[in-house]
Amino acid sequence: MVTLNPQKIDEARKEVDRVNSESRTADALMEGITVLLNQHMLKYNWVGFYMFEEKADPPMLVLGRYQGAMTPHTRIPLNQGICGAAASSGKTVVVDDVKKDSRYLACSLETKSEIVVPIFVRGKVAGELDIDSHFLAAFSSEDRELIEYCAQLVGKRLETEAA
Ligand code: SME
Repeated sequence: MVTLNPQKIDEARKEVDRVNSESRTADALMEGITVLLNQHMLKYNWVGFYMFEEKADPPMLVLGRYQGAMTPHTRIPLNQGICGAAASSGKTVVVDDVKKDSRYLACSLETKSEIVVPIFVRGKVAGELDIDSHFLAAFSSEDRELIEYCAQLVGKRLETEAA
């Protein structure tokens, strides 16, 4: 695996395409994305997927593949956290300073900013890609595009597997 300059989002995107073409399943793709983003993007200090369990009572976001420190938040209801906000609105949520957002559920004392991007399967939220950074305002519009691209690839792959 090549070492990326963290500024070079284009290179990261190519690496994501490579991981996508080499992954046989959605699960392998999610694992590959967490490893790639966590190892090569210096500000992406925790990278993980939460999958939506619609049939749970109440419906839950359940921790899936991740890289980074262990988190106490393995199951998150839709009305809690930045994760719940992204899943229930179906919109990307970027928080530049987690201390200023009352929705934030703390994973690590080092986390300063966070992005959560929903994953859609046939138009419905099936999960999300969550990234925490030890840096304030770590996620620029280019980062957001890269992370949304990853979420779209996973959504397409889950859609194929569900077909
Ligand atoms: N901070 C998230 C919880 C998950 S951890 O970041 C891994 C939230 O507020 O929903």
